[in-house]
Amino acid sequence: MKRGLFITFEGIDGAGKSTHVAWSADFLRARGITLTLTREPGGTVLGEELRELLLATQAPVHAETEALLMFSARRQHLEEVIRPALARGGCVLCDRFTDASFAYQGGGRGVEKRKLAVLEDWVHPDLQPDLTVLFDVSAEVGQARVARIKSPDRFERENAEFFVRVRDAYLERMKESPHRFVRMDGTKPIPDVQAELAQKLTLILSKWKT
Ligand code: TYD
Repeated sequence: MKRGLFITFEGIDGAGKSTHVAWSADFLRARGITLTLTREPGGTVLGEELRELLLATQAPVHAETEALLMFSARRQHLEEVIRPALARGGCVLCDRFTDASFAYQGGGRGVEKRKLAVLEDWVHPDLQPDLTVLFDVSAEVGQARVARIKSPDRFERENAEFFVRVRDAYLERMKESPHRFVRMDGTKPIPDVQAELAQKLTLILSKWKT
């Protein structure tokens, strides 16, 4: 059987990713795709416990500790959810993956890219998403949207400079792997973004099926 299809969604906080993940899941299911919808950090019992810790702890967290915990959650996620679903030939739609570690821990927190690349190679040497949709907005736009959240998490509380670095790191990652990235302008009206998403998803589905 053919390997499944691995799609990831990325973007800085406030880029509108969550809205589009839900919409895309409905879009894919409506086309008869067997879909596993999941997220990082999280997606497994252990991963969700690590997520809680990563997003809510009051304790000091070294940037490299944070990176290691993200990859720990990811290792379990690949084992329990992502790889089995792909092996069954289904489609996995994952809300954030390793690009987020390069963007947030690398760009945002300053963890050396070289070290993140070691972790990436350790945890998934043989697997990359088939399609990564990057919802792109400026740090200011993202911050303005996040400012409306009542109880922001550890990342959402970061300042504008942090998100400028996160965004730049995402764009750099996109330049390094242009074949799998698609950039969406997250400032466009939702229906416009959805129309573009429908096109991109239809294209990847047709490539996958042939
Ligand atoms: P997010 O995906 O924005 O979920 P929600 O929409 O529920 O707020 O939250 C996850 C946070 O985790 C986000 O701020 C980015 C951060 N993150 C990292 O810093 N590194 C990673 O590798 C991943 C997967 C997420």
